[in-house]
Amino acid sequence: VPLSGDKLTAQKGGYRFFMEKEIYEQYEVMSDTMIGRVLDNEISFEEIDENFLDGISRIKLCACGTSYHAALVSSYLFERLSKLPVQVEIASEFRYKEPLLTKDTLFIVISQSGETADTLEALKMAKHAGLKTLAICNVDNSSIVRLADTTILTRAGIEKGVASTKAFATQVMVLWMLSLYFGKRCGVLEDSQINKELDAIGHVPTVLKNALDIHEKCKRLSKRYLHGHGFFFIGRDIFYPLALEGALKLKEISYLHAEGYPAGEMKHGPIALADAELFTIALMPKTLLYDKTKSNVEELSARDSTILAISPEIFDLADDFILTHNHNHPMLEFFEMMVVEQLLAMEIAIRLGNDVDMPRNLAKSVTVE
Ligand code: G6P
Repeated sequence: VPLSGDKLTAQKGGYRFFMEKEIYEQYEVMSDTMIGRVLDNEISFEEIDENFLDGISRIKLCACGTSYHAALVSSYLFERLSKLPVQVEIASEFRYKEPLLTKDTLFIVISQSGETADTLEALKMAKHAGLKTLAICNVDNSSIVRLADTTILTRAGIEKGVASTKAFATQVMVLWMLSLYFGKRCGVLEDSQINKELDAIGHVPTVLKNALDIHEKCKRLSKRYLHGHGFFFIGRDIFYPLALEGALKLKEISYLHAEGYPAGEMKHGPIALADAELFTIALMPKTLLYDKTKSNVEELSARDSTILAISPEIFDLADDFILTHNHNHPMLEFFEMMVVEQLLAMEIAIRLGNDVDMPRNLAKSVTVE
C-alpha cells in the first residue's frame, strides 16, 4: 500500500529525500557497523571461526552495481593488508565466463539487498564448486545470507533511496576491517600497522559527520554543474573505484553522462574528449599519490577541461574547488570524498527536478537476470 504524503514526509524525518536522510545517517550507522568488531587493539568478527582461513590462499569477490565498487576498493585493501591475491568479478560476467574455481579461494559476495539475481547465482556456482563462501550483506535472512556459509551483516539499517549511500559506506568499512582481520590472522601485519589502521577506523564516524559541512558548497556548485553533459570522475588507487562510484551516483539520479576513470589512464584515449565542455571531477587526496594525480589533472587542464578539484590542498589550476579536511590516512580522505560525491550528485539531481529516491528505469533490488 503506498504511503500517504504525510506519512512519507514523516518517515523522511525532515529531509527532502530518503537519499539525503541516508547520507546524513552515515556517521551513526557506521558506529553500528563497528560495534563489537573494533576492539582496543584488534578487530574481531564473532561470525568467523578460528579455522576460517585454513587452506585459503586467494580471494575472489563478486557483486553488482555499487556493491561491485565496494569490492574493487577492497581489492586494494586485501592485497595491502592481508597479502592475499584478489580478483574482483561483476556477477553477470562471472556467471557465463566458465570461471576456473579452485578450492584455495575464499569466495566473497557483496550485496545490499541479498536478493540480486546475478550475485545469488554466482554464489550458487561457487558453492557448487565446493568453495568456502562469505556474504557481506545488509539484509538478514535474505536469499544470499541463507545460502552463504558465513555472513557479515553491514548493519546500515533499511536503505530506501535507489542510489545506494550508507550501504556502500558500511560495505567498505566491513571490507577494510576484514582485510585487517585477515592480515592479523595470516601474520603479515606488524602491531604498529594494526594500531595505525585501528586509529583511523575509530575516526571514521567523525569524518562522515564533519564531511556534511560541505553540503552548502555542493548546493552552490550544482547550479553550474547541472549544465554539464560529459563528466569524468578521476582518481588513483582506492580513489579510482570511488571515482567509478561518484560517476554512477551522478548517472543514476541526474541522468547526466558520467564516467569514472583511473587518472593515470586518461592519456590513453579519454583525454581526446577534453575541452571546456568536459567536466572533470578530480579526487586529489593528499595522503595517496597526490603528485601523480596532480600531474594527470594538469594534463586535462592544459586541454581546457573544466576542473572541479576535491582536495585538502589548494590547486591553482582548478576552476572550482571543494576543500576537504586534512587527514592522516587515505581511508579517511576516501570517506570524506565519498560524502562530497553523494551530496554533489544529489544536489544536481534535485536542481534538475528529478525524483532522487526513485530514479527512472532503476530498481532498488534487481531480482531478475
Ligand atoms: C541495483 C541497485 C543498485 C545496487 C545494485 C546491486 O541495480 O539500483 O543501487 O548497487 O542493484 O544491489 P545489491 O543489493 O546486490 O547490492
